[in-house]
Amino acid sequence: MVKFNILAGGNIAFIVSYLFDSVDKTLTLIRKNPSGQNTSWIERSVINPSILYAVNEVEAGVIQSFTIFNNGTLSDAIASTSSGGNGPAHVFASPCGEVASMNYAGGTGAIVNTTNNGSDFGGSTFITFPPIGSSGLAHPHETLQLGNEFLVPDLGGDTIWRLVPNADGIFSIGGEIKQPTGSGPRHAAIHRDILVTLHELSSTITSQRIPPLGQNSSGLISNLSIVPLDQAAMAGASFAAAEVLIPSPNLVFNSTLVYASNRNTGTIIDTRGDSIAVLCLSPDGTLQMINQFFTGLNQVRGMQFGGPDNRYLVASGVVGDGGVVVFERVGKGDQFVEVSRNRDIPNLTSFVWVCV
Ligand SMILES: *[C@@H]1O[C@H](CO)[C@@H](O)[C@H](O)[C@H]1NC(C)=O
Ligand SMILES: *[C@@H]1O[C@H](CO)[C@@H](O)[C@H](O)[C@H]1NC(C)=O
Ligand SMILES: *[C@@H]1O[C@H](CO)[C@@H](O)[C@H](O)[C@H]1NC(C)=O
Ligand SMILES: *[C@@H]1O[C@H](CO)[C@@H](O)[C@H](O)[C@H]1NC(C)=O
Ligand SMILES: *[C@@H]1O[C@H](CO)[C@@H](O)[C@H](O)[C@H]1NC(C)=O
Ligand SMILES: *[C@@H]1O[C@H](CO)[C@@H](O)[C@H](O)[C@H]1NC(C)=O
Ligand SMILES: *[C@@H]1O[C@H](CO)[C@@H](O)[C@H](O)[C@H]1NC(C)=O
Ligand SMILES: *[C@@H]1O[C@H](CO)[C@@H](O)[C@H](O)[C@H]1NC(C)=O
Repeated sequence: MVKFNILAGGNIAFIVSYLFDSVDKTLTLIRKNPSGQNTSWIERSVINPSILYAVNEVEAGVIQSFTIFNNGTLSDAIASTSSGGNGPAHVFASPCGEVASMNYAGGTGAIVNTTNNGSDFGGSTFITFPPIGSSGLAHPHETLQLGNEFLVPDLGGDTIWRLVPNADGIFSIGGEIKQPTGSGPRHAAIHRDILVTLHELSSTITSQRIPPLGQNSSGLISNLSIVPLDQAAMAGASFAAAEVLIPSPNLVFNSTLVYASNRNTGTIIDTRGDSIAVLCLSPDGTLQMINQFFTGLNQVRGMQFGGPDNRYLVASGVVGDGGVVVFERVGKGDQFVEVSRNRDIPNLTSFVWVCV
């Protein structure tokens, strides 16, 4: 397999289709597929891989569905439904066919059933998160799956909500996993029984064991800054962590590695761009920093692994003109080399890999 389609969303009114050729090392824009306004996050259906979901991150937030054609382009929107509030910054597709979208600005979220093999939307449950933090407003940022629960990091409340279904399949808040005060949990990833959380406001990454439901906290195993040491002291820099990924270990990359993106949102920008921190996660849950990889991109908000052995990483910055870059993991997976860069669209925020 040498050719891949990559779909990309951003703060624009279309979803971009690229063709990545890993032998020719080219990344080519093939179509700007019309979508609603501000399609900042896209995600593929798990039950039907030919369906793509996207948000319109606007005041009256929307979730849309599209067909992914074999040539990597998209149909017009098949269906759309309300995200239940202001500013859906993320959409998650569950293995049972539900779609969950969290409204960052509005402090609410929606869990939506799908019908017709993932292409249409069915009944929705809307959740309002209590404003518990010092900011006085919940900022739910994404959804993760844990068994039959959904976990939702809340940057405003410094907690991770646990949404649990009742006997009728209706979700509500059933507990939480408290996070350090003022840390601003944004995104998280689960490996075995370990929850790894990336905190936007403190630019830290933490690990902890997932507590039983009802026990609303557990001790931190590790707590580290992800900011490169030489940038931490840089005058005019200001950091805001964004994305954390833990690709499953495989035969080629056989250690459990954690990748976390830095965003320098300050006034002084490093010419190397922002880094992706690479950490090792030990079986006991300890995190150890092993590399800082500078991307030449500014403010990487979304990034995604794909290709054989999850060898490739596609990323873009939300500001600047770095474009879209495919990097290749080398060494143990702690190093990267740039394979291809396309600058047709200077800034994008989320990605989906599609095999050709
Ligand atoms: C759903 O769509 C997928 C991909 O097109 C197909 O393989 C699968 O058979 C479909 N399932 C049903 C229940 O129609
Ligand atoms: C689009 O989304 C960004 C965040 O991704 C947000 O800052 C901006 O306000 C949104 N634009 C509109 C028109 O809502
Ligand atoms: C891709 O496939 C779709 C559906 O078959 C077709 O309508 C469209 O014209 C094709 N686009 C390109 C660029 O080949
Ligand atoms: C979603 O579907 C499940 C399974 O059919 C059902 O139990 C649940 O009530 C539905 N939720 C809504 C909000 O319609
Ligand atoms: C756990 O969190 C839930 C949701 O906030 C709350 O209703 C419950 O009382 C908490 N339980 C304990 C033991 O603190
Ligand atoms: C986590 O680490 C950060 C950065 O080193 C530190 O400022 C913070 O106090 C720590 N928080 C906890 C709860 O240990
Ligand atoms: C990981 O791969 C390296 C190099 O191929 C090998 O030496 C090592 O034994 C492997 N480790 C595990 C845990 O499989
Ligand atoms: C992103 O790129 C667009 C051009 O597509 C440009 O108009 C916009 O200013 C850029 N946004 C930022 C925040 O740099």
